[in-house]
This record gives sequence, C-alpha cells and structure tokens, in this order.
Amino acid sequence: MNILAIESSCDETAVAIYQGDIHTRQGHLISESIASQIDVHARFGGVVPEVASREHLRVLPMLVADVMADADFEWDSIDAVAVTSGPGLMGALLVGSSYARGLGLANNIPVLPIHHMEGHLLAPGLGGDLPAFPFIALLVSGGHTMLIRVDGIGSYRVIGQTLDDAAGECFDKSARVLGLPYPGGPEIAKLAITGNKKRFKLPRPMLQKDNLNFSFSGLKTAVMYAVRDIGELDDMSKQDMAAGVEAAVGDVLVKKSLKACEREGVSRLLIAGGVAANVYLRELLREEAGKRNISVALPALSYCTDNAAMIAYAAFCRLCAEAPFDGVGDVNPRWSLSDLRL
Ligand code: KG4
Ligand code: ZN
Repeated sequence: MNILAIESSCDETAVAIYQGDIHTRQGHLISESIASQIDVHARFGGVVPEVASREHLRVLPMLVADVMADADFEWDSIDAVAVTSGPGLMGALLVGSSYARGLGLANNIPVLPIHHMEGHLLAPGLGGDLPAFPFIALLVSGGHTMLIRVDGIGSYRVIGQTLDDAAGECFDKSARVLGLPYPGGPEIAKLAITGNKKRFKLPRPMLQKDNLNFSFSGLKTAVMYAVRDIGELDDMSKQDMAAGVEAAVGDVLVKKSLKACEREGVSRLLIAGGVAANVYLRELLREEAGKRNISVALPALSYCTDNAAMIAYAAFCRLCAEAPFDGVGDVNPRWSLSDLRL
C-alpha cells in the first residue's frame, strides 16, 4: 500500500509517500519533499504562528504535486493520507489537516490522524532501526523532553518529562542570549566544535534528584548571567559557552536516559526529535550506553527534525499493528502521547 503523509505542525511543511506491505511489515520511502520556513521566521527570532499557517497553505499544494510527480503516481495509487493532527500550532495543524481531508474526500481514501511525537518516536524505523519492545525512548524536540517506556505501537508510558523548558527550547534560548539566529540548536552545535566546554561552570539541573524529570530553565538563566558577567562577548567566549551548554544538556539527557533503562530493566534505548540531531549528544549516548551494554537506536540526521516520512511511517506501523486511529478529522494542539491506544 502507498501512504501519502503531510506534516505541518510547526515551521516545516513536508510531504512524503511511503510504500509498505502490511503482511511482511516491510516498506520504504518512495519520495519526499520539504519546505523549511526558517528564513521566514528567523528575523522574528522564533516561529510566528500566523505566518507559519500562511506559509503552509502557500506551499502544500506544490509539495504534494512534487512528491506525486517524483513517485510517478496517479491518485488511484494512493491508499491513505496520513496527517499530523497534534500536538503543534493550532493554525498550522488545521492547514495540514484540512488539506488532507480534502485529498481524502476527492480521492475517496481514508485520512489517518497521526500524533507528531509518535512520528518522531518511530522515525528510527525508517532506517530499519526500530528496537524490539520494550524499549526506552528519549524524545527531545523544541517543545518536548520526555522519557517513555514503549511496550508496543501505541503503548507509551511517560516515565519522565521536563518541568519547564524543553531541551530544544534551552538550546534556542541560550543561542538567542549569545546573539545567534533561530533555531539555536544547530548554531550552538556548530560553534561548540571549537569551544572549551569546561571554561564555564554550568549547572546540570535535576541530575541529583532521584526521578526521571528534567528542568532546563535554570540552565538558560545561568547562561544569561554568565554572558552578562563576561561583558564583551568575543568569538572565543561564544564558542566556549556553546560547548558548555551542549555538554550540560547532553550530560543530563544521557544520564537520565540511562537511569530510565536501569529502573525499567530495559537494555534498549531510542532517541529521537530535533535535538537528537546533535552529534555531540549522539556520540556521548553511544559511548555511555555502550559501557552498560545498552543498545542505542537513532534516526538518520534528516529524520530527527520535523519531516513527513516519519508521519507516513507511523501510520504504516499503526496499520500493521491494527492500532486504532483516534480523532479523525480533528486537530489537537495539546494532544498527549499517553492518550494513544494500542
Ligand atoms: O523536532 P523538531 O524539528 O521540532 C519540534 O517538534 O519541536 O525540533 C526542533 C528543535 C529546535 O529547538 C532546534 O534548535 C533543535 O531541535 N535542534 C538541535 C539541533 N538540530 C535541531 N538542537 C541541538 N543540536 C542540533 N544539531
Ligand atoms: Zn517535531
């Protein structure tokens, strides 16, 4: 079967076609197209929801036409349309969802609502790297930082989460303090390569607490004070601070993830979401997990940040598992992952 998927929950508009066989549970990506709005929002220092909705509306028809042409498909080859229905920005989600419903009606095919974070969570499967169940998933994006025990498709138990800022948000806000453009994560990562991560003593929030929760707002504040104390922010200070932030965030994420594996008695770990594109974090995690015989699954770099391939793949996994599709036709900007069913 062929699934066309649409992702428009934030500042990327993306469309992809995934071809899979429900019986063998094997499949592959046929085509994909993505339009980033980063340049449009950069001058505002962050995503402007209304601007995002308009951009999605402008580019979606072109992207759909692109992937159909690239796959050399007519509409009678498409069996279902999958669409991100939450969480995300209300207007942005509505654009994708309405467009998907239009395609469903016009072509008499079902529309499958997909949870954005479930898409992130299953993304390593696009490269055939989905661990056996149960496994622990660390989901780190611009809006979420969660540790989840995954017992099957649709069976997600949140065992830890951030009490304030998400890890990506911490990167973005620290980057802003350093005068770097949005989104800050990749900018911090670039500068950190040549920085000295030990120069600034930054806190490792929640590390001493005996739970699996996170808190990153204190780290952002520490960066703010440290930058204020430096006065004139030269290039080397920027690099050292970037390396310090990256190391502090990485340290907390890795230690809490390994603690989650230990507590749950699970030796398979998966990390996904935009922050999983951070090379320092990927390497640190592999190294530390390796010492404890914990396997690590990671999406390819391009499937860490928002994309439609992961949405198509999540729909395929739900179909294979005969898991229900809740909320058909609705969008839910605050949809919780724990609401999903097996
Ligand atoms: O998953 P995503 O694309 O969108 C959301 O669902 O939020 O994640 C975006 C977040 C942003 O905060 C961005 O700064 C961060 O992921 N990010 C990174 C890197 N690439 C993206 N953070 C650290 N290092 C990176 N290389
Ligand atoms: Zn995302």
